[in-house]
Amino acid sequence: MLDAGGQYCHLEARKVRDLGVYAEVRESETPAAELRGAKGLIVSGGPSSVYDPGSPTVDAAIFAGGQAVLGICYGQQVMAHLLGGKVHKGVKGEYGLATLHLAETEDPMFGGLGGPQQIWMSHRDVVETVPEGFQVTGRTDTCAVAAMASSAKRLYGVQFHPEVAHTLRGLEYLSNFVFKVCGCEKDWDPRHRVPLIEQEIRDCVGARQVFFFVSGGVDSSVAFALTRRALGGDRVRGVYVDTGLMREGETDFVRGLAGLEVEDAQHEFLDALRGVTEPERKRHIIGEEFVLVQERIMERQHLMNEDWMLGQGTIYPDTIESGGTAKAALIKTHHNRVAGIQKLISSGRIVEPLKSFYKDEVREVGRELGLPAELLDRHPFPGPGLAIRCLCAEQEAAVEQTPEGWLIPVHSVGVQGDERSYKPVLAIDTQDMARATELTNRLSYMNRVVAAVETRAAVSEMRVRACSLTAERIERLRRADGAVRRLSRASGYDQQVWQFPVILIPLGTPEAPDSVVLRPVDSVDGMTAQSVRMDPDLLARMCAEVLSDATVAGVFYDLTHKPPGTIEWE
Ligand code: XMP
Repeated sequence: MLDAGGQYCHLEARKVRDLGVYAEVRESETPAAELRGAKGLIVSGGPSSVYDPGSPTVDAAIFAGGQAVLGICYGQQVMAHLLGGKVHKGVKGEYGLATLHLAETEDPMFGGLGGPQQIWMSHRDVVETVPEGFQVTGRTDTCAVAAMASSAKRLYGVQFHPEVAHTLRGLEYLSNFVFKVCGCEKDWDPRHRVPLIEQEIRDCVGARQVFFFVSGGVDSSVAFALTRRALGGDRVRGVYVDTGLMREGETDFVRGLAGLEVEDAQHEFLDALRGVTEPERKRHIIGEEFVLVQERIMERQHLMNEDWMLGQGTIYPDTIESGGTAKAALIKTHHNRVAGIQKLISSGRIVEPLKSFYKDEVREVGRELGLPAELLDRHPFPGPGLAIRCLCAEQEAAVEQTPEGWLIPVHSVGVQGDERSYKPVLAIDTQDMARATELTNRLSYMNRVVAAVETRAAVSEMRVRACSLTAERIERLRRADGAVRRLSRASGYDQQVWQFPVILIPLGTPEAPDSVVLRPVDSVDGMTAQSVRMDPDLLARMCAEVLSDATVAGVFYDLTHKPPGTIEWE
């Protein structure tokens, strides 16, 4: 998989692996000589134009050696451009669904795929003239070269995205390419790799010992368990830092995982956060506190000695920075910033057993190791924990009535372009998602729309009060989150959503000072997300549970997609 800078590159590689064929991501400009061992190459999509200065390209020799190559989207344009075809620089793009008409062809790539079919497009430029020796094999009403082929040279291009679900027969295209054109065998199964990875761990570590900071998430837990299995429990140490910002039952759950020690740092985190209301400051303080605690542990346990290595749960997308993963890399940095850790990394004393796997494959490996489903199937949870789900306010303020609903003066984050920005929230009295989407698109003075599901007092009578992060408020949020999680799990709803944050906002009455927001979302990788509906009966039960706490004034439901909202509220 040659990465031409697209967020789709990893998705494409993952789809090929899901078909049971090993795929690896390389820089697009990797010399052809280094790629000879591959049965086939796929040049990924990407946001550039072949005419942009410095846009990604490939070594043209890959098209001359008889190796099978498929260009997807930008990949098709690069192929056409380098082989003497013509690419037209588009002004307006084509984004969304289209109908593909395939030409009659015997070619194995398109075999069995006749008939008009739904595809998904996302491009600006198009191939106008195919290179010599190529045929146009597919078109849409607006795109004359939606697919092209040179069967004799084993070169193929598609302008659409076969890797997304909206291209209904997309997997058949990828499957035709890897099996019929490239002649690959279905022989990739991450579970079979476990003995090999264990050997790699033993080779890398030698006679040394390994320590991990385990977060309780899937990646670090699987990496830790795997390393223990490879080296034996007495050579591998894992520490989990209890920040006091974790969910109900989390620390007990982690204590149940074999071989983990718990470092209690609850008071340090809460003390450092006392009186702080500003979201970015909260994040910063938590990052700094992690550094201090980790340094203390490393010093106390003499982990800087030559006979120790650092183990990490880095997974494949974290190792390659492209458009889609830059943020993931950024988010992770604050945990890895400890000077001691940096020193270990720069001296190569680091072991990352999962660095060639995708998330779903890590789960497969975890199942092979016999780790509990409760651990492997858990939703993502942010490093700063409940702190960024417990909103604070600098000063007291009233709710404002507008023609569209009530404007609640708590500031939640949204994404405008690539920037995170803080704006108020609009509450409406229906759970009509289409209306919410229309409002978020139209009104620029707020970031998100919530439905008022059930409240003790009229929303117009509630106020936002000045408050910061206290043990009492964290505990209130923890109880609400615990109740929602129990009901979500028991009803099977947690399997239908990708993540389900529960947020506490300082909106209420003197007796019941806070309200709770439910934020169930569907997503593939967290970069974009859709708000998800819930069965009314389940929602009613969640409201009843949450409101059984007399200090909670109301339950709201976040109806906002990302963008423009974000998944988290801070
Ligand atoms: P947003 O709020 O940006 O979140 O839509 C996207 C995904 O990233 C997670 N997230 C974090 N994870 N540390 C983390 O480890 C963080 O500081 C952090 N902030 C957001 C969020 O839970 C969602 O899955």
